[in-house]
Amino acid sequence: MKTRKLGSSDLYVTELILGTWAIGGTMWSDYDEAGAKEAIKASIDSGINCIDTAPAYGGGHAEELIGDVIAGIRDKLIIATKCGLNIEGRYEKLLTPEFIMHDLEMSLKRLKTDYVDLYQIHWPVNDVPIAVSMEALMKAKEQGKVRYIGVCNFSGKELDDAINCGEVVSLQPNYSLLEREIEKDQMKVCEKSGVSIISYGSLAAGMLTGKYKEHPVFKKGDARNFFYRFFKKEYWPAVREVVDEVELVADKYGAKPGHVAIAWILSHPSVAGAIFGARDADQVKDNLGGAALTLSKDDIDSLNKISEHIYG
Ligand SMILES: NC(=O)c1ccc[n+]([C@@H]2O[C@H](COP(=O)([O-])OP(=O)(O)OC[C@H]3O[C@@H](n4cnc5c(N)ncnc54)[C@H](OP(=O)(O)O)[C@@H]3O)[C@@H](O)[C@H]2O)c1
Repeated sequence: MKTRKLGSSDLYVTELILGTWAIGGTMWSDYDEAGAKEAIKASIDSGINCIDTAPAYGGGHAEELIGDVIAGIRDKLIIATKCGLNIEGRYEKLLTPEFIMHDLEMSLKRLKTDYVDLYQIHWPVNDVPIAVSMEALMKAKEQGKVRYIGVCNFSGKELDDAINCGEVVSLQPNYSLLEREIEKDQMKVCEKSGVSIISYGSLAAGMLTGKYKEHPVFKKGDARNFFYRFFKKEYWPAVREVVDEVELVADKYGAKPGHVAIAWILSHPSVAGAIFGARDADQVKDNLGGAALTLSKDDIDSLNKISEHIYG
């Protein structure tokens, strides 16, 4: 699988990156642990070299599973995890230097490694200046526990502020054909500063695979009920129109809708990789075609047009 350079780092991530939120076992219903482990194994066997995780995914369980699977091959992989959500509390955002160092030590333990390749701030906070948090992260880098620093869910201004405090190599935003807000703000900062985007929600949490013919309803407590706005009933007709177009484009290439969703993300030069979640090995294998597909300019234009005004 092709790789792309991650910002100013010397890391080359595969165009597909495995995401492990659902693999953590909480917040996404119908969890299957054996399937989750197989998904991690199948990704590595398919040539994916980067895995994204966080303490918040299953309260540390996703990191533990990854730690088990990567034993013996850890040095061949790029492990990206996150800091700043306190899983020992009520998942409140916390970016004090003391907590960052503690969070990091706990992640290293669960991942059974002594360094993280990409350490990302999970969410911005208001109560600790970014300079203070960045200083802690840079200290962790000097200690060799972190190779590179990234951020998630930052606005363009927050990203700029972080860049002014130290080397930031990546931004991880919610980005897909159903969520394009970053094009107006963060993507411009990334283009200007050479920070790479690694998108999350790349398949719109399954919506862009075309599997939902009716508006989907999830079990109580499932994160899809509140986290991604495209699951709200009021947006279903506009969302379905986009999915219809994605399916039409996919048919032209003899590809799957999910492949078109991924190829569309990868058509943006500031993107280094598309993070996708998978419950099992079959979903991993099913998504690989996304990295092999190149869309024509006409198809990209038609997808851009139909997905422009989903939310009014
Ligand atoms: N930084 C952050 O704040 C943040 C936030 C969210 C996510 N992330 C990261 O980004 C990753 C990806 O985001 P995501 O997992 O939320 O969304 P996603 O990648 O858009 O969607 C993943 C989900 O789609 C379904 N799916 C995947 N492949 C499929 C296939 N071939 N056919 C049918 N269904 C398929 C699966 O759920 P079902 O089988 O249940 O349908 C899977 O869990 C996460 O795992 C996490 O690592 C980061």
